[in-house]
Parts: sequence; structure tokens; C-alpha cells
Amino acid sequence: MRTDKLLANMGYGSRKEVKKLLKKGGLLVNGEKVTDGKTHIDPENDVIEVFGEKVEYKSFIYLMMNKPQGVISATEDISEETVIDILEPEDVIFEPFPVGRLDKDTTGLLLLTNDGKLAHQLTSPKKKVDKTYRVHIDAPLEEGDKEALEAGVVLDDGYETKPAKLEYINGESGTVVNLTITEGKFHQVKRMFEARGRKVVALKRESMGPLSLDPNLDLGTYRELTDEEIEWLKSANE
Ligand code: URA
Repeated sequence: MRTDKLLANMGYGSRKEVKKLLKKGGLLVNGEKVTDGKTHIDPENDVIEVFGEKVEYKSFIYLMMNKPQGVISATEDISEETVIDILEPEDVIFEPFPVGRLDKDTTGLLLLTNDGKLAHQLTSPKKKVDKTYRVHIDAPLEEGDKEALEAGVVLDDGYETKPAKLEYINGESGTVVNLTITEGKFHQVKRMFEARGRKVVALKRESMGPLSLDPNLDLGTYRELTDEEIEWLKSANE
């Protein structure tokens, strides 16, 4: 793996800051100074020292995926394709896992990380992280539906949902809305609309906390979060 990527992943700052660290001669690999960020290191076997301190290889990875339909939000499965199967081997070695679940037929923003603390903060019901979904329903909402969905509806198992926000995308007579919820019960969005007699025909997650799906990501593609995005996520949850 490239030195600059490895050090950035290990928390030694942004790529720019890592470049400075290397320029200052702060990195020794097997006792030899490495100043070029492009140099490849084998993190499992090389002895890495930063400013004289031996460092354990422990890196975090933060990915944003535009999940396609037909893959499941799990790390492994005997018969189904998983979101991990989409990743490049160089990312899989960090052992990322999906932060929360999207249904097999749901598309859109899915975060993957190996940072268990952040994943927990984003999915803990106590943290009430907003999740916004673009929802296509089989028939327009009627009077009272918006208010009911926003105030809380009773799901098929008797659970009453917490307050939500609903926004019409192409007018009140249309069948496309944005729904923002702070919870993540099983099939929650589909079951909320079912509670009002509607069927969800397409579902896409647009955002999670301060992070929106990058419009440049095609279905089934992903990218690393920027340092800034990682900071947003962390500070939104403190
Ligand atoms: N709600 C659902 O019903 N499905 C999802 O995938 C996410 C939220």
C-alpha cells in the first residue's frame, strides 16, 4: 500500500499533512527513511516508525457507496451477493462493514467502515441521526397521511414511530416524497407507508446525518470519504 495512504488511514493527518511529515524525515520503514508518499509499504510485515516511535498498524477506512439493487447489506452470505463483494481487494483487507442496513432492493447512500465506534454512534437510537429517503409510492397520499406519517404511525407489530419529516417532491398529487426519520427499524419506511395503505415501489437513501450521497457516484460504485466528511460525521455525533 502507498505510504501516504497508509499514514493518512492510520490517523497521521490528511494526505497533505502526511506529505509534510515525510518531507521532515519523520518516517522510517525497516530502519530506512522514506520520504516519497508513493513508496509502497507492506503494513503487515514492515517495521514502521514515525518520529522514532514504533507504530502498530491499525487503520480505519471510511467508504461511501451508492448501493445498487440486488445486493445485501452484509459482510458475507452463502448465496447472495453482498456489498463487500463490490469492493476492491485493497479496501476489503481493512475489513469494513456496512453502517446499518439497506434492504436488498433499496439503493443509495451506504457507509462502510471498520471504525466500530463511529458505526455505533451513527446507528444508536439514542443519537437520533437523520436519514432521508427518496420514496416512490404506488398512489398519492391523501388528506391526513402527511400529518400522520410525521407525527408517528403504528406499524404492523404495534410499534409507534417517532416524529418524521415528509416533503412532497413533485406536488401533493405526485407519488414521490422525501421522508426523514431518525430511527432504523426493520423495513421501517416501507412499513410506515403500509400503515397508510401505500406500497413503496422504489426506495433510495439520500443522506445520513450531515452526509449526502455524492451525485457523481453511479449505482454500484463507491469512494473514500474525504477528511472533511469524516470530521463532519464524528462531530455530528459527539
Ligand atoms: N426502510 C426500509 O423500509 N428499507 C430500507 O432499506 C431502509 C429503510
